[in-house]
Amino acid sequence: MKFVKINFNFSKNRSLLSESLELLSLLETESLLKIPKFKRFSEIKNQVNNTGTYWQTVDELSYGAKIAWRNSTRCIGRNYWQSLEVRDRRDLNNPHEIFDALVEHLELATNNGRIRPFMTVFRPQKPNHPGIRIWNEQLIRYAGYKQSDGFVIGDPKNIEFTKMVKQMGWKGAQGTPFDILPIVIQMPSQEPEMFELPPSVVLEVPIQHPEYPWFAELELKWHAVPLISNMMLDVGGIKYTAAPFNGWYMGTEIGSRNFGDKSRYNLLPIIAKKIHLNNFQNHRTLWIDRSLVELNIAVLYSFHQAGVTIVDHHTESYNFIKFEKKENSNQRTVYADWSWIVPPMSGSATPVFHRTYQNIELKPNFFYQPDPWLPYDSQYKSKSSCPFKFKL
Ligand code: ARG
Repeated sequence: MKFVKINFNFSKNRSLLSESLELLSLLETESLLKIPKFKRFSEIKNQVNNTGTYWQTVDELSYGAKIAWRNSTRCIGRNYWQSLEVRDRRDLNNPHEIFDALVEHLELATNNGRIRPFMTVFRPQKPNHPGIRIWNEQLIRYAGYKQSDGFVIGDPKNIEFTKMVKQMGWKGAQGTPFDILPIVIQMPSQEPEMFELPPSVVLEVPIQHPEYPWFAELELKWHAVPLISNMMLDVGGIKYTAAPFNGWYMGTEIGSRNFGDKSRYNLLPIIAKKIHLNNFQNHRTLWIDRSLVELNIAVLYSFHQAGVTIVDHHTESYNFIKFEKKENSNQRTVYADWSWIVPPMSGSATPVFHRTYQNIELKPNFFYQPDPWLPYDSQYKSKSSCPFKFKL
């Protein structure tokens, strides 16, 4: 039994070591390594042998994070990977400090509308232990409330999360279509804690249309900053389970998907009626397509009017081709997930549609992790006892 255990640990450490060596070699190839590789690797080996893991240098972490962005095959915005600002907050040990760092991240990233890509990295997961988790998918998201008649107010995507925070005692539910959800932070093996974002740090853009005055009466809005908070950053085998990052929006993410998807705000029939295309059976009128275009025009126009950074899908597709060319001239191949790269409107009118890509996952990279609240939710439903039993 004992022998098996030692053997097991050894092989784990070896893979962490080989991942760390791979990272060092990558940084060396890109002339980003400031200490000789063999020297740094022997430090890492010592640390891994003594502690089961190693502490990355600020350079390893911040170059690793940038390269993780570069390697994200689903992201069309990778042309800017070098501009990512990485904030090292591995020193923080309690949820209140982490929340403060998130608020600060949001302020720095929002930058009064001139959005800047940031990542804040918190302490990594100890091997075989739970890591810090931010339960929210994004820092700013809108609650979804399912009514008894099945009608949903708000964002249907967040119905389960909304239910869960209400069970945890969230008092902020106003029942509007745009209630900002609270932040849930969980330190390893502790109970999660809930925090409200101060409204002053959440920049939102009211949606209007350059030609249709009635558009503003729909009282739509969207948040300025997409800030992903539930993915794991893996650099050199070290797993950062809380490493929230942001870019800026491409218009179609909001105009086509968040507003247009049937499973989201489902606004196409409403827009169609307003532009007098209300025979929904007749697909030949292209009421769907025309409504999509008007929604997307409104989103781009409104962000622009509000002085908030946003990019249209034609420009971003063109930037992606530029990124490919730059990468190729650095002897690197660009891998991509075509179905994510091609924009969800006018796909064939953008250059990326006409190219093919291999979808290979290089590391460093970002990875999905299981929603930490799902076991909680099912446990709560099945036992209807104390809800706070979800140590990971
Ligand atoms: N599609 C997501 C949303 O609509 C955001 C994903 C990240 N997008 C970005 N532009 N960095 O909220």
